[in-house]
Amino acid sequence: MVSAGVAMTDRTLLVGTNNAHKAREIAALLEDMNVRVATPREIGIDCEPVEDGATFRDNALLKARFYSRASGLPCLADDSGLEVDALDGRPGVLSSRYAPTDPERIQRLLDEMKNVEANRRAARFVCAAALVDARSETEIVEIGTCEGEIAFEPRGTNGFGYDPVFCLADVGQTMAELTPEEKNARSHRGRALRAVQPHIASLFS
Ligand code: IMP
Repeated sequence: MVSAGVAMTDRTLLVGTNNAHKAREIAALLEDMNVRVATPREIGIDCEPVEDGATFRDNALLKARFYSRASGLPCLADDSGLEVDALDGRPGVLSSRYAPTDPERIQRLLDEMKNVEANRRAARFVCAAALVDARSETEIVEIGTCEGEIAFEPRGTNGFGYDPVFCLADVGQTMAELTPEEKNARSHRGRALRAVQPHIASLFS
């Protein structure tokens, strides 16, 4: 079991990511739920599972199972990424591994899209949110999506990952130009987590 770096309570929900941006978005989305959100590192878990699933759903479940078993706590894990129609769905589950850093990932995407016209740049963010409690054998997965288009150049400084090049057609802004609240209200992660919330509530009831 774990050596706790922060106090755990019977309302601790482990968030199965060490990505600080994701963890912050998830904590904000769960802030009204009266649960204590902790990351693996905060409770002394330094190992990570190999994300070798074929789908977002497989990877989210694999992470939530791994961290729930390692900690003995309920775990919510998200696996997410960007699917671009003109690239046959790439980068997809490989979104975080498309290049070493966020700016390099964006540059690779823009290079691959450089000859793609404005009306063929449709894309979507996808998030699979898995809630696993190894003790009660609970396993829930919900999927959220957010439709948009790949911009021709990065705009905005909020968010993370591909946000500066993911344009929301109805508002004409990239995800990185939205406030955190505006992003959470419409993002793939916001949608998936709102669908999981009732299950979190019943786990802690
Ligand atoms: P993973 O779920 O940790 O495998 O990584 C998902 C990757 O997809 C991130 O590292 C980002 O590159 C990308 N991604 C997922 N969600 C978002 C988002 O909300 N905004 C921008 N990029 C995202």
